[in-house]
Amino acid sequence: MGTNKLILGDNLEVLKTIESESVDLIYLDPPFFSNRTYEVIWGDDGEKRSFEDRWAGDIDHYINWLKNRVRQMHRILKPTGSIFLHCDWHASAEIKVDILNKIFGRNNFRNEIVWSYKRYTAKSNKFQSLHDMIFWYSKEKEYIFNEVREEYGEKSGKMDSHYKQDEEGNWYRMQKRKGEEAYKVYLSDGKRMGDVWEIPIINASAKERIGYPTQKPEELLKRIIECVTNESDVVLDPFVGGGTTVAVADRLNRKWVGIDQSVMAIKVTDLRLKKRQNEFFSTPYEVIIPTYDLSKLEQEDGKKFEIFIVEKFGAIPNRKGGKDLGIDGHTDYGTPIQVKKWKKPVGRATLDEFLTAIQRDNKHLFEQNKKDGQVCGFIIGFEFSKDIINEVSKLKNSENIIIELKYIRDIIPYENPPKVTLRANELEDYKYKFEAQAESKTGIDFYSWDFSHDEKEFKVDVVMDKEGVQEKKFAEGEHNIAVKATDKQGLSGTDKVKIKVKKNK
Ligand SMILES: C[S@@+](CC[C@H](N)C(=O)[O-])C[C@H]1O[C@@H](n2cnc3c(N)ncnc32)[C@H](O)[C@@H]1O
Repeated sequence: MGTNKLILGDNLEVLKTIESESVDLIYLDPPFFSNRTYEVIWGDDGEKRSFEDRWAGDIDHYINWLKNRVRQMHRILKPTGSIFLHCDWHASAEIKVDILNKIFGRNNFRNEIVWSYKRYTAKSNKFQSLHDMIFWYSKEKEYIFNEVREEYGEKSGKMDSHYKQDEEGNWYRMQKRKGEEAYKVYLSDGKRMGDVWEIPIINASAKERIGYPTQKPEELLKRIIECVTNESDVVLDPFVGGGTTVAVADRLNRKWVGIDQSVMAIKVTDLRLKKRQNEFFSTPYEVIIPTYDLSKLEQEDGKKFEIFIVEKFGAIPNRKGGKDLGIDGHTDYGTPIQVKKWKKPVGRATLDEFLTAIQRDNKHLFEQNKKDGQVCGFIIGFEFSKDIINEVSKLKNSENIIIELKYIRDIIPYENPPKVTLRANELEDYKYKFEAQAESKTGIDFYSWDFSHDEKEFKVDVVMDKEGVQEKKFAEGEHNIAVKATDKQGLSGTDKVKIKVKKNK
């Protein structure tokens, strides 16, 4: 596997492109099967972001979704490789029996690691849940395992009368095994690590905290990576989130690949790695974010556009159209979504109509979400006006109705293609000069020309013109000329002129 990579996309699609038997360790921390909505305020601008890890009450749906992905993970693991699947009580039983035992085999189960942590607890009529599970399976019987030791706790070791001090003051005890010479076991070597790991969760003031809602502690990942990989081995995290796995892998000189479907996760991880690059020496990496050409997106017909955006949002589109009350899709959990294709900012009137529509769509779910403080609906648009933003926050504060406004650029990164203006000047009989001027954020790479443009297709007569200036003679009559400016990112914009050629008297 080549360079270190951060890839935006649905991991199922990305995993399919990864070579078989090319990865040493896969750690995954998929969205849990729970009903929480994570919300964080982070960044200097206090931007509020959130993501849902909610699923329609149907566990089978969740298990199938994950199983398809774990199958791909099994394929890409090297024979000596391992998978560590992080989950909690919501779906751990089903994940172990229906996914891991089936795909990896019961014989390749190595450990159920219990990550035990302390946190504030809330009043409840059952015991507090204070641990997650991490299932470790190796791909085959022979696998990489580097023994990791941990320090003895306060109450063990030298307090134990078996321990003595050597001449340098180091504590040891004698160990004798049947048929072997007695040997010294030093206290400082620590004890073999068990499968219950007590590691604090990331609290609000932790140095490593980046504000990603489900960020995992670096210590947890360090143990896993050190145990089952060596330097230069490849570590993959298909749900990279805030980038804990890849940041630790990088520090431990492992190669890595991180995948996430959220633009926000990729951006945050990129920033986290960049910050690290300033602090230490580290290897370069590639960020692969497919961008969309905005002008092409805008040309899509309304329904197709809505379906495309809802799918990219990871939800289920309403394909029927017609009497959809303006609801264009639902999340897995059933929360309604509306997409607005307009270039002008989405305003207050849209919100009022949407509120009526979502109550008609599923009144029971609306009331339940309101009661639980969960999102009642999503409006997705290019821009939002101030009045809708204010009204959304008022609704939340006064009526506990949460409507989330989502920007299309956060769902699919898009770019504006170059803007081109083409001018034609007659020089002499039959001869014309054409000048194209284009603007682009990344700079224009080249211009191409079609001197007999027919609207349907751009037929290239001149391929790579760096200046955007052409002179050409024409026969008498009408001619359509088109120019296409392509920028350094490969996005292109066109402009056309029509000329009427006749001999000047
Ligand atoms: C629980 S978080 C991972 C947190 C991460 N372990 C950390 O320490 O920051 C789950 C992540 O999975 C991502 N995700 C959910 N479905 C995905 C999919 N189909 N493909 C790729 N990423 C996905 C979410 O965007 C989210 O960032």
